[in-house]
Amino acid sequence: MGCNITDFNIIGQSSALLDALARGDRAAKSGARVLVTGETGTGKEMLARRIHAGGARAAKPFVALNGASLSPELMESELFGHVKGAFTTALRDHGGLVAQADGGTLFLDEIAEIAPALQAKLLRFIETGEYRRVGDAMLRRADVRLISATHRDLRGHDFRDDLYYRLAVVTIAMPPLRLRTDDIPLLAEYFLNRIAQHEKRNPMRPDDAALAALQRYSWPGNIRELHNMLYHAVVMNDGVVLTAQMLALPAPVDSMSLMRDAAKPQPLWVVEQAAIDAAIRYCGGNIPHAARLLEVSPSTLYRRPKTRAQA
Ligand SMILES: Nc1ncnc2c1ncn2[C@@H]1O[C@H](COP(=O)(O)OP(=O)(O)OP(=O)(O)O)[C@@H](O)[C@H]1O
Ligand SMILES: [Mg+2]
Repeated sequence: MGCNITDFNIIGQSSALLDALARGDRAAKSGARVLVTGETGTGKEMLARRIHAGGARAAKPFVALNGASLSPELMESELFGHVKGAFTTALRDHGGLVAQADGGTLFLDEIAEIAPALQAKLLRFIETGEYRRVGDAMLRRADVRLISATHRDLRGHDFRDDLYYRLAVVTIAMPPLRLRTDDIPLLAEYFLNRIAQHEKRNPMRPDDAALAALQRYSWPGNIRELHNMLYHAVVMNDGVVLTAQMLALPAPVDSMSLMRDAAKPQPLWVVEQAAIDAAIRYCGGNIPHAARLLEVSPSTLYRRPKTRAQA
């Protein structure tokens, strides 16, 4: 995303955020398994890193597995490793993230995406501390703390109840940005300062109308979307005053023209492109995540021509 924001500087003063942080800090001291829930871009991974950093394993590795970015077959070997020849592309032995995280924390992002067969193996690993590399008969041991995250409810889907209860000893819900509009001025100032540093310019300041517009918007992509929008505004404009016009916020909806437009069929490629743009925006530019919401493979989006004229 151009400007990296990867420290544990979790900005905010809303009671919703402070509650989540306080729960995280308590959980950090206990070593219990934590499930962090919340919409995309709300800071689930940030909280997970903070829990790791605040606990007894802080000096050991924090290793992340993203369930959304891998096929089910690859995920098992990514997690537990594989031996040479376990499958056609397994050209040599591979240790896996569980081994890398030994003594530390393993962060299982988008846990809902883990296929049932792997859920069973993960449950076994939690219960026994033992696992096998793909294609290997040897039992290995690792001691990891699991922190998981999901943006959707795990229950009632393809997710095993027994695993759910194992993972969710403590649950922490990261509140969506639209429910903590108090945090928006602070976050905007923080991001505008960081962006200015990164771009070697004077920081921009939102005027009152811009701030009001930021606080009115619903932020489906949450904090990541806020950061992206501010970054875009800084790059595309000069000066130190950020106005509402500089923000790529959706125009207020004109319901008459919407009804008119809805009645007139659009070419399929227009509708498709609009759906793709909306999904990518919703995910703050996270293509694998957008692809999952659209139920297509990420490569479909990467391969996609921008407009039909270029096709
Ligand atoms: N309170 C905050 N203060 C500062 N930066 C934040 C805050 N919350 C989130 N961010 C930043 O916003 C981005 C999204 O956060 P993070 O990756 O933790 O979200 P997430 O919930 O894991 O998202 P996803 O579901 O898309 O994986 C990151 O770059 C993170 O550093
Ligand atoms: Mg995440």
